[in-house]
Amino acid sequence: MKFKAIAIDGPAGAGKSTVAKILSKKIGFTYIDSGALFRAITLKILKLGIDVNDVDNIIKHAKNAKVDFIENSIYLDGIDVSKEIRDDIVNKTVSYIAMIPEIREIIANIQREIAKTKNVVVDGRDIGTTVFPDAFAKFFLTASVDERARRRYNQYLDKTKYSLEDIKNQIIHRDYIDSNRESSPLKQADDAILIDTTNRSIDEVIEEILYHIFIKGGI
Ligand code: DC
Repeated sequence: MKFKAIAIDGPAGAGKSTVAKILSKKIGFTYIDSGALFRAITLKILKLGIDVNDVDNIIKHAKNAKVDFIENSIYLDGIDVSKEIRDDIVNKTVSYIAMIPEIREIIANIQREIAKTKNVVVDGRDIGTTVFPDAFAKFFLTASVDERARRRYNQYLDKTKYSLEDIKNQIIHRDYIDSNRESSPLKQADDAILIDTTNRSIDEVIEEILYHIFIKGGI
């Protein structure tokens, strides 16, 4: 691999995207939000009204989808969908789309293409295990489920729609599907460094990551 990839994996709400965004800026790498790629494909399938069990049709449309990152926004077929991909319906459907091996392959290839031409920090579930097994550095972020639910709950502007308990149950459900699917499940790579972010600030977590990058010889 000519360019360097840094993998940041872990379950929902562990702090991956916040950490990956800040880290990438600090070290001058391009940030890839792999979850956003799964979300964009899911949004396309939902918009087309395709059933989540209609795998052949899902694959056909995913192959034709044009997904681009432009300045931290994500574009689906030329339209900025950065907000829409965070909708509830996408949250509830994305894990089912992410179970399909062909979809995982399409999305892994999009990431590998980007990484051919630049250094990247990538956050996801299978980056260190499957997408970039030769990544320069791999981190696996976790936090207690209560802490992860609290973080997600605090991100919601409308707190009347879901209770903290609802969010916690959604997270447990999504983690279960992500960890138990057959195709590249959420799993810590053997050579990934585990960081528990419960009760730790973002700055502390980034410090620790930078320390490990330094130990590995720097960038
Ligand atoms: O990180 P996120 O919540 O935006 O991810 C959305 C979903 O996409 C997540 O529930 C599982 C799936 N995903 C995946 O299977 N593999 C990845 N590398 C990233 C996300």
